[in-house]
Amino acid sequence: MLELSALETGYGETRVIHGLSLEAQAGRMLAILGRNGAGKTTTLKAVMGLLPVTSGDIRFDGHSIAKTKPYDIARLGVAYVPETRDIFPSLTVKENLTLAGRTAPANAEWTLDRVIDFFPRLGERLSNGGNQLSGGEQQMLAIGRALLMNPRLLILDEPTEGLAPIIVRQIHDKLAALKEAGLTMILVEQNFGFATSLADEVIIVGRGKSVWTGSSDAIRADSETQHKWLGV
Ligand SMILES: Nc1ncnc2c1ncn2[C@@H]1O[C@H](COP(=O)(O)OP(=O)(O)O)[C@@H](O)[C@H]1O
Ligand SMILES: [Mg+2]
Repeated sequence: MLELSALETGYGETRVIHGLSLEAQAGRMLAILGRNGAGKTTTLKAVMGLLPVTSGDIRFDGHSIAKTKPYDIARLGVAYVPETRDIFPSLTVKENLTLAGRTAPANAEWTLDRVIDFFPRLGERLSNGGNQLSGGEQQMLAIGRALLMNPRLLILDEPTEGLAPIIVRQIHDKLAALKEAGLTMILVEQNFGFATSLADEVIIVGRGKSVWTGSSDAIRADSETQHKWLGV
């Protein structure tokens, strides 16, 4: 569904990604792992059209999106939950949900009601301000907002960062349910156990390149690679 081939991107003159290739297949979850600073977030930003593709290509459904604007990439069906979550602090939960999401057609899979069913906690917090939410509630809101776009590909950047273990388990179960429902996902994570218990395929990025690819089972069994590239 999404294919990066020999991607090069970076910030201004600074190239950070040096020829990265990867593939996310329909109905599956791909985890992108790697140490801090390896280039995971930079890769996602390039996919979303937030950084220029200096060389190589990004294809979604076989069509290049390397020069497509972020708004149009979102309209094609790629939703992005950034590391920073980007909740509007002065808007209510309901406003945060409905502002960014296009008004879903009546037959859409994800409507406001369905998102509230999926995250009951958000339903209890609808009129609270974005600045009144816990970290876990913010993450649920960020995911809920992405789902309201009825994406075909959901991209999550470190959804468990800074969350308590009990909340991490809740997020885990929600992502497992989305996977069960057939949603294609790309997950960037520092939490190795979390990522490999959910993902089908794993790619490890080191210094802006792919250094290992394989299944979750294979990387769990490969302590040498874990140690070398993840510091696990
Ligand atoms: N806005 C920026 N301007 C310049 N360099 C950046 C910027 N953001 C990140 N970098 C650099 O790009 C590299 C990869 O960062 P990043 O993609 O955020 O890593 P990761 O998400 O894997 O932790 C790092 O060396 C980082 O310092
Ligand atoms: Mg990052």
